[in-house]
Amino acid sequence: MNMAIILAAGQGTRMKSRKPKVLHSVCGKPMLKHVIDTVKKAGLDSCVVVVGHGGDEVKEAISEPGTVFVTQEQQLGTGHAVMMAESLLPPEGTVAVLCGDTPLIREETLRAFFRFHEQNANCVSVMSAVVDQPYGYGRMIKSADGNLTGIVEEKDASEEEKAIREINGGIYCFEAGALSGYLSRLTAQNAQGEYYLTDIIGMAAAEGKKMGSFTVKEQEEIMGVNNRVQLARAEAVMRKRIGEEWMLRGVTLIDPANVYIEADVEIGMDTVIYPGVILTGKTRIGEGCLVGHNSRIQDSRIDDFVTIQSSTIIESTVGEKTSVGPYAYLRPGSRLGKEVKIGDFVEVKNASIGDGSKASHLSYVGDADVGEYVNIGCGVVFVNYDGIRKFRTTVEDHAFIGSNSNLVAPVVVESYGYVAAGTTVTMRVPGGALAVGRAKERLIAGWGERKMKKKENES
Ligand code: UD1
Ligand code: CA
Repeated sequence: MNMAIILAAGQGTRMKSRKPKVLHSVCGKPMLKHVIDTVKKAGLDSCVVVVGHGGDEVKEAISEPGTVFVTQEQQLGTGHAVMMAESLLPPEGTVAVLCGDTPLIREETLRAFFRFHEQNANCVSVMSAVVDQPYGYGRMIKSADGNLTGIVEEKDASEEEKAIREINGGIYCFEAGALSGYLSRLTAQNAQGEYYLTDIIGMAAAEGKKMGSFTVKEQEEIMGVNNRVQLARAEAVMRKRIGEEWMLRGVTLIDPANVYIEADVEIGMDTVIYPGVILTGKTRIGEGCLVGHNSRIQDSRIDDFVTIQSSTIIESTVGEKTSVGPYAYLRPGSRLGKEVKIGDFVEVKNASIGDGSKASHLSYVGDADVGEYVNIGCGVVFVNYDGIRKFRTTVEDHAFIGSNSNLVAPVVVESYGYVAAGTTVTMRVPGGALAVGRAKERLIAGWGERKMKKKENES
């Protein structure tokens, strides 16, 4: 196997989108990237992508080592698209052609297809499927003895041919040496006025070349995505696959249909995931974690034995045995140590919180370096913004920040420093000192009783 050509120049009109079709995502990854990744996993290192419509955008979104882009200025058909890669074709070996809009093709299937092609020493092999609704696809035309003789497109098909339920999946293997010759002989004499790659099958058959069709069992694998209904269908298939893969690797999904795990996420053994969880980007979750309902974790690293409940975590790291939530919000740059507790309605941003520290309820910890075994009381605000600039706060190990305090940055509370509840801290708190800053309390005897009596008399 020498090279893969992936066709991705088509406009994708039916997507009704400003974005090129192949950049639409399935489980968080552009369709084209799925195809490239699968091709690579199946053992092909060299990959040529034919781009055209929105080509620059595609190139920018998919920069991959070992992937070369060629441009097809005008979309004159799949055969024409392959011609654009002609100068890059190897002199011998095998060239695989795939479409950028069939993201569900699997590595094992591709490997089996490549083996089939090479073991049979075919000139051309075509991946096909037998489907209930062949409408729109090219039909596999076979002789009485079952040999492939051609492929007819929907728009060129006779009624009899339209009844054929074996369709062309749009994935091919060609003997490299023969491909160029066939490409140069393609014409656009058909219903769509396009250079059909599929016409090569008829030519090779006429010359008595060895050909074969490889029928996939799961027809969804070759499902082409042309509109958003099909995109959602592909998403559902991929989501199911991803869920099953993680379950088989030891992750419990309480309700797999209601968990959204993107393609590049990783999850450790014995982690339990509740309904409504969304795991996206390059998120990595360790072993033995609990991810409670309606949590969303994006591009974050969660170590082992962490508990997360109904919380949002973005571009952050969470250390072992830490507990987050319910209803916590870790914004980008939050770095939690081990056995930390971030409780309900706590927001953390661009802050590190050391091992064993706690912010159990209703706090904002922004732009801060918090040491180990610090206690942040209820309602504490790290005041990081003066309306113009942001400043950092440092709270050293074992400090205690009483409830409803404000730490006005830039400020430092040294280790074992103690901030009394309700204090607004603007000065450095030396190690072991107490900072109290609140109005002196007055007591007025009988005031409350008089007030209540008056209310009773009035009613
Ligand atoms: C094609 C096949 C059809 C097959 C189906 C499988 C042909 C003539 N027909 O039809 O037999 O059943 O795929 O999904 O090949 N593309 C380009 N440049 C072009 C035209 C298309 O790069 O000028 C790309 C598209 O971006 C797409 C792929 O080729 O990724 C297939 O093109 P599309 O127009 O979707 O072909 P189908 O009509 O689906
Ligand atoms: Ca298509």
